[in-house]
Amino acid sequence: MSTTSVHPSVKAFISDVKAILAEHGETEEALQRIAVRMRDLTQDDELTKEEGPVGNVHHGQQVPPLYTDETGLTLVRAKFGPDHNTPIHNHFTWGIVAVYAGKDNYQVWRRLDDGDDEGHAEVEMTDEFIMGPGDVQIIPFPPQDIHAQQGAGEDTYEFVLFGANAMEGPRLYFNPEEKTAKRVTPKKN
Ligand SMILES: [Fe+2]
Repeated sequence: MSTTSVHPSVKAFISDVKAILAEHGETEEALQRIAVRMRDLTQDDELTKEEGPVGNVHHGQQVPPLYTDETGLTLVRAKFGPDHNTPIHNHFTWGIVAVYAGKDNYQVWRRLDDGDDEGHAEVEMTDEFIMGPGDVQIIPFPPQDIHAQQGAGEDTYEFVLFGANAMEGPRLYFNPEEKTAKRVTPKKN
């Protein structure tokens, strides 16, 4: 991605994220600090009112990310409607969700077995809450990067930052009843 096509607010945000990661490494503390910085992004008038392309990778809508580079660091806009929940899934990377419009019914899931890939997998929901504009949520490091999302009675719009390019990378879809995880790789456009 050429730097000229990156929005100035995104450029400043990514610069801060990289400084935090350089100082703290990929640690819990770094994610906490990035989450605080990401809250500012939800209040960026220009960026949040811009009619940018909005994707939902679980429904086959691939849109260009706001930012991605060779390190894997990737920022996307996402939209989740109220009609159905996403699969219970991971992205094999940490992430941070930051809602800027609407409401998100967010579920945190936890893997109980010692696996980190497809096959037998036992998961349970450990938390469920509504996120509104300005709310941020850390997707923890794998294998506990498991979540599901759905608009809470309305569409939700958010920025999501991933440590690796989650739009192109594989993810696991979990089935709690069957106690299985299935590895899925998104189709290339
Ligand atoms: Fe996700």
